[in-house]
Amino acid sequence: MFRSDSVPVTLVFAAERLNYLVEVRNKDDPSEFPERNLKLVKGIYGAALVWRGLLQSLLPDWNMCMFCVAFPAWEWALVSCLIYWRLDQKPIGRYFVTDTILITGGAGFIGRYVARACLERGHKVRVLDSLIEQVHGDRTQTEGLDPDVEVVVGDVRDEAALLRALKGATKVIHLAAEVGVGQSMYAVDRYVSVNDYGTAVLFQQLIDNPVKRVLVASSMSIYGEGLYQDAGGRIYEDVIRKPRISADEPWDPLDDQGRPLVPVPTPEWKKPALASVYALSKYVQERLTLTLCPAYGMEGVALRLWNAYGPGQALSNPYTGVLAIFASRLHNGQPPMIFEDGQQRRDFVHVEDVAQAFVLALDHEKAPGGVYNVGSGQDRTVSEVAELLSQAMNRPMTPEIAGKARIGDIRHCIADIGKIQQELGYKPRKNFAEGLAELADWVAKQEAKDLVNEARKELEARGLVA
Ligand SMILES: NC(=O)c1ccc[n+]([C@@H]2O[C@H](COP(=O)([O-])OP(=O)(O)OC[C@H]3O[C@@H](n4cnc5c(N)ncnc54)[C@H](O)[C@@H]3O)[C@@H](O)[C@H]2O)c1
Repeated sequence: MFRSDSVPVTLVFAAERLNYLVEVRNKDDPSEFPERNLKLVKGIYGAALVWRGLLQSLLPDWNMCMFCVAFPAWEWALVSCLIYWRLDQKPIGRYFVTDTILITGGAGFIGRYVARACLERGHKVRVLDSLIEQVHGDRTQTEGLDPDVEVVVGDVRDEAALLRALKGATKVIHLAAEVGVGQSMYAVDRYVSVNDYGTAVLFQQLIDNPVKRVLVASSMSIYGEGLYQDAGGRIYEDVIRKPRISADEPWDPLDDQGRPLVPVPTPEWKKPALASVYALSKYVQERLTLTLCPAYGMEGVALRLWNAYGPGQALSNPYTGVLAIFASRLHNGQPPMIFEDGQQRRDFVHVEDVAQAFVLALDHEKAPGGVYNVGSGQDRTVSEVAELLSQAMNRPMTPEIAGKARIGDIRHCIADIGKIQQELGYKPRKNFAEGLAELADWVAKQEAKDLVNEARKELEARGLVA
């Protein structure tokens, strides 16, 4: 067992290991499964060492105690079991329940990843989702949600369903929304009803049943055009896009001397410029959250998401994320259809990184009252991502360039993610090529209806493509 001269060394070693336990319980720790499991294993090993030390000093005859003689073997058995547990992909974190999280719209693309990340973080998760047809087709049951998630099928505008879903909840992540920029310009009542009235009903219930914290999924679309810079380095914060009168006009916004402005990362302080009904409705959601939470003793946080992508996005929804739309086209042997000239710049962020941002904002003490951009920190043109995706899917095809813009779309907006990195410890982890390869593998096993032409006709019929 311990020789007396090795006690200080063992104590230091045990303390170091125990520190891993503290880190894992520390809300600032940005590491996720499986790193958290490894830290737990190391921490528990430290605790075993301390326990052995205590027994050794308390028991009168250490060497005579069979249990203690055998203790090192027990320790290793325990450590091996935990390592096996980790390899078995079972996040240990979910055995340490801390909060009950209600995720509205949690059966959707982002919701499923956020739900999993919350479970891994040790929270209990409940989802309220009305399973709208545009996203879930004719399914009446959720698909792809972790079996540990409790599901309430219901509309966020239905008080009774909300009350059931809020029972015992300590935090809320509000994702339920209609999500198409183009579609919002004609389905105005639907977008305002679900996104804004839905958020109003949620807060009406929260006033009587408050929770500790509410996170809302806002959007980069609220910025309108992002921040720009001219050749002399002057920053333009208020670029407004005007419809092009003739085909010779440049797509990019121009400075006072007619030179194209260059997009630069957009920070949270840029003033909103609401160019679509969707943007307007997301801003209302954000403001309702940040106005009502402090008034009723709750903590509100808004995350402004850029273009999320990854396996699980609705492939047959022509109003969803651009990568899922391109993937659906390619899967059906059609070239991606790109509005404008394809040189619009965006930030494509993997959905696992979006989930990381949510779990950080859920627990971090600095988050309340904050708005945070969530992106990858890297920008790309829409044409470039179409080409990279067709390579990843092994379907080389030249994209179809529409040469026309959708009303309500913005030209460039790229993310400045400095604030969430510094304040919440967010680190985008997924490399874009790796994310696309994973998406391509998933798409290959799916069925996808290509409804892009129908969606384009809907917009054209209303004069919303010019
Ligand atoms: N995906 C992105 O790139 C992105 C970017 C910016 C912001 N956001 C925001 O993130 C959130 C989640 O987006 P997503 O990509 O997972 O979309 P999604 O369409 O996959 O998920 C939305 C979910 O909300 C549900 N829903 C819709 N109306 C509802 C209602 N009335 N009551 C209850 N549930 C309802 C849908 O059934 C769906 O499961 C949305 O608020 C969206 O505006 C997404």
